[in-house]
Formats: sequence, structure tokens, C-alpha cells
Amino acid sequence: MIRLSKSSIGIKEKLAVRKVLDHEYLGMGKEVRDFEIKLRNFFKREVVCVSSGTSALQIAIQSCNFKKNSEIILPAITYIASYQAIIANDCKPIPCDVNKNTMLLDTQKLIKQISKKTVAIMPVHFAGSAANIDIIYKIANKYKLRVIEDAAHSFGSYHKNKLVGSFGDISCFSFDGIKNITCGEGGCIVSNDNRIIEESKDARLLGVVKDSNQRYIQKRTYEFDVKKIGWRYHMQNLNAAIGIEQLKKIKKIRSKRQKLCILYDSLLIKLKDIKIFNRDYNKILPHIYVIKLNKKIDRNEVRNKMHKKGIETGIHYKPFDKLSISYRYLKKREIDLTESTILYKSILTLPLHCDLNANNIKYIVKSLKESIS
Ligand SMILES: Cc1ncc(COP(=O)(O)O)c(C=O)c1O
Repeated sequence: MIRLSKSSIGIKEKLAVRKVLDHEYLGMGKEVRDFEIKLRNFFKREVVCVSSGTSALQIAIQSCNFKKNSEIILPAITYIASYQAIIANDCKPIPCDVNKNTMLLDTQKLIKQISKKTVAIMPVHFAGSAANIDIIYKIANKYKLRVIEDAAHSFGSYHKNKLVGSFGDISCFSFDGIKNITCGEGGCIVSNDNRIIEESKDARLLGVVKDSNQRYIQKRTYEFDVKKIGWRYHMQNLNAAIGIEQLKKIKKIRSKRQKLCILYDSLLIKLKDIKIFNRDYNKILPHIYVIKLNKKIDRNEVRNKMHKKGIETGIHYKPFDKLSISYRYLKKREIDLTESTILYKSILTLPLHCDLNANNIKYIVKSLKESIS
């Protein structure tokens, strides 16, 4: 079976995990600190490593100290993690339509959703692209909003000549098993706002003030104070050890994923019932490869046929307004989600990971051609 996505783990990651196991210090300690330092050198900004991309988003929002029921605007099409992180903070997620050509926030419609209660925008760098980020920051500056970038898909991506995470307000990354680089599970918060960094460090360790400094040197704080709610969301050494090795391969990973997507584009552009998204694969580090099927094509049938040919496919993502939980956030509010609704019916995700080769891509495209005709 050609998997939709997977971790690509080499001997170096295995040896690094082995070393942590041998040392028998599995929790948060030296490896987590080393990974944070390496990430800080990568982004040229402060970094806090946590247990997942979801906890990164949740803690980042918490550190902004928004009032209860504050509104945060985000794309209707994203993983439910983005929404749950907002809901967990007693804030209100406001879904906004996406642009049909990029699947990123529609910035015109975004402006229409800004209300007196809006405190932040959460752009999601879908599939690795942050193409609309300059406009987002212009809007945020104008309306004095914070920007919490859900950069789960875009580790290692560039926007123009800037690395995603190296500029802007707050960026949250995921290192789960299938992300651009993986820790097994993990995530991080990147910001140049020192208060956000310090509050996030405490929040990941149950709110214990400055416990991070002790953990880094394999100690714990016993005489401690707690000022705010906190969680057990720190990263463990085992996960950090994998991340350190993965980060060393970032150039190879970027180049491999870019080449695979460029090949997909060149083959799929010839298929008349398929529409490809116009992404700049010389700049971004693509996380997923999504296409649009002609609306007359039955997507389920295509997915079944592809499965029989040994190819996994996916759908990224079901829009928020199609989930039962959305009811309490959408009532009494007019939100135009036309493009998200149309897109949702036709999008299909094809396999993308570092263990695929050109022949795999050719086989996937050939199989897709047979499955849609
Ligand atoms: C857009 C988006 N945001 C947030 C997350 C959450 O990351 P994690 O799975 O590490 O919690 C994901 C994970 O798939 C994601 O795709």
C-alpha cells in the first residue's frame, strides 16, 4: 500500500532514541533544551517545545490573556486542532471562508468578520503555504489584533525570502508523526515576544513558575509558586532526540518534497478533470498535496478505486460548519462559507512523504487517471 503520509526515520533517529533510553532520563531535560537551542538558531527567535501542535496553539492563545468569549478568526477549512485550541481557552472560534485558489483565509471576507470582540487572527498555512501572510499582518496592524499562525503544515517553508516562524507575532508548529519534520509527537511555539515565551514555558509545566530552567538541568523545583492555570504539555527527551536528528535533514526533506510536488504538477496539469493548486514549490516545504476533482466526479468512488490499486488518499479537511460543535458558534451570525463548501466536495489529497520516488508518483497519477475515467 502506498501510504498517504508517514514518518521517515533513519538510523540516526533510532540511535538518538536509544541513547536517551540508555541514559534513563526520559522526561523533559537536556535533549529538549538542545532541541530548543537548535530551533532557536534555525528561526533566530525564542522557541518553547511542547507535547503537540495542538498544545502549542492552546498555550500560545492562553499566554495572550484574552478575555472570555473573545473572538478569533480562522479558516473554515483546517484541522479541528486549530478550533479546539481556541475553544479550550474559552474563546470563540469564528470560521472564515477560504480563497478557492489557495485554500488560505480569504482576506476580504476576513475583514467582514472583525467585530468589537475580535482579538486575534489565526491564519493556517495550508499545505505549507503562507502566501497571504503579508495582507493578514496589514489587517492585524490596522485593527490591533494579535496573529497566532497555525504553522503546523509549514515547518521549513519560506514566504518570499523569509522562513515561516522567523517573522511576525506568534507561530505554532507541529512535529507529529507525519509532519515535515517529526518528533513522534511534539510541537513548538516561536515568538519574539518574551512575555509569550515565558508564560508558555510555565504553562507547559502545570504553571510552575520557572520550572523549565530546572528541568533543563535535570532537576525539579520544589519550593515553587503557581500564578496561572497550567498543563502537562512539555516535550519529552525521547521526542526531542528524534527532532534533533530530523532537523539536521531539513534541506534534504525540503528538496525531496518539493521535487515530488513539482512532478505531480507536471503530470496532473495534463488531466482535464483535475485542477491543481498553484503553489510556489521553490519556496514552500509542502506538507500535503491536494487537488480538486471536477464536480461531476464521484470522489468516494475514486478513493475506493485508488485504494484497490494500493493507494491511500485523504480529504483535508471537513469545514468547521459541517461539524455538530459549530452550532453554538455559528448561530445568529451571518458567515459566507461558499467557497469552503464547494471546495470540500471536490478536494482530494494524494500521497506525499519522503519515502516516495518518481515512479510512485507516476503510478499514482496513472491510477488516478484510470479512476476518474
Ligand atoms: C492545521 C493543523 N493545525 C494543528 C495541528 C495539530 O498538531 P498536532 O497533531 O501535533 O497536535 C495539525 C495536525 O495535524 C494541523 O494539521
